Amino acid sequence: MLKNDQLDTWDRENFFHPSTHLAQHARGESPNRVIKTASGVHIEDRDGNKLLDAFAGLYCVNVGYSRQEIAEAIAAQAKELAYYHAYVGHGTEASITLAKMILDRAPSNMSKVYFGLGGSDANETNVKLVWYMNNILGRPEKKKIISRWRGYHGSGLVTGSLTGLELFHKKFDLPLAQVIHTEAPYYYRRKDLAQSEADFVAHCVAELEALIDREGADTIAAFIGEPVLGTGGIVPPPAGYWEAIQKVLKKHDILLIVDEVVTGFGRLGTMFGSDHYGIEADIITIAKGLTSAYAPLSGSIVSEKVWKVLEQGTDENGAIGHGWTYSAHPIGAAAGVANLKLIDDLNLVQNAGEVGAYLKKTMREALADHPHVGDVRGEGMLCAVEFVEDKASRTFFDPTKKIGPQVSSTLLAQDKVIARAMPQGDILGFAPPFCLTRAEADQVVAATARAVKTVLG
Ligand SMILES: Cc1ncc(COP(=O)(O)O)c(C=O)c1O
Repeated sequence: MLKNDQLDTWDRENFFHPSTHLAQHARGESPNRVIKTASGVHIEDRDGNKLLDAFAGLYCVNVGYSRQEIAEAIAAQAKELAYYHAYVGHGTEASITLAKMILDRAPSNMSKVYFGLGGSDANETNVKLVWYMNNILGRPEKKKIISRWRGYHGSGLVTGSLTGLELFHKKFDLPLAQVIHTEAPYYYRRKDLAQSEADFVAHCVAELEALIDREGADTIAAFIGEPVLGTGGIVPPPAGYWEAIQKVLKKHDILLIVDEVVTGFGRLGTMFGSDHYGIEADIITIAKGLTSAYAPLSGSIVSEKVWKVLEQGTDENGAIGHGWTYSAHPIGAAAGVANLKLIDDLNLVQNAGEVGAYLKKTMREALADHPHVGDVRGEGMLCAVEFVEDKASRTFFDPTKKIGPQVSSTLLAQDKVIARAMPQGDILGFAPPFCLTRAEADQVVAATARAVKTVLG
């Protein structure tokens, strides 16, 4: 029986939760977990249940919970100056310092940071900048954006369109016409099982070329992609994918927006996913790990090439007509400065790489031979287990059986470990805070093996 005290009632009567089955929740059919406190890799609900958060919130609390250095920086900023805007050249010590710290860490062709609040609005900014840029360059027809099926880039109008997941389109009249999708670099789900990884990359390239051909390169402004597909299934790309894709984009003068909302600031064991895969972005999207979610803040890092055109645009047209009230909010910026410093001081990027590799290795050892585990994959502090009905023929389960959600809820119920049932496919995702220890990784793996056994035998 679900607890039905006042908070529970207020929640169900008043609170419109994101990404939630609204009717079931309002009727009290789904659990209502009120989180009260947290420390390190653990969160605690108001009933005193301590849970190991192996998804770092929504892969964002990268430095772990309850870091006093960040809390104190936020408090100090709020006391000194809670807010001032960043329009017409205004700044704060925190926002200017953070921009400098980001550029010091970003790939060398990057030039400036525009600050927003979350990943969705940052990608919205990116699309506007690309459109603005092509108008300034006198090519107003070159506007479409290519995204990948299973990419995740937000849930606004344009960004929900960029997101290549059915749930985010259905009944919302998305995607918008300016957004077109191409093959996901998802080798495990290749149609032709006989295909080698290299052949599959060639297939992805051919699909992209065919799309560009059909639409016309002169109508396509940019390609957007995450270094590793995140919400679409935690899927590292096959070897050589990014190199091959970049060649095609260069050939057709198509800009590359690299969405590093998940991978930025260390998750792959390198400061950026672009460093990890040798990607040369024109624009990089950042959010989550920028502040480890201690305060909302995102950014669009633009390259020198893009910046020059934006400068030309304002010389020709006046101030850029783009900005949010909360752009570069001082409290978010103070959190970002303290967070990036902490990542350096605690060597967390290296830890993400090392413990992440250990997590994947031990997860493989524990689960790869299970008859219903088709794939165990990951990169840095990202790991996924994909379930199948039949391994040899790679037959997936009927989605209505909800195997992924069953394993994740069993994991929580049995061993108080949080992993995420990814929204499309029976895929259990792990993205722990970077401070995860090997002992905690062992705990996650043992609990996962137990949950898989309970659900699938
Ligand atoms: C790669 C990526 N881009 C963009 C977003 C959207 O960010 P937000 O939810 O902060 O709008 C997300 C969120 O998970 C993401 O994973």
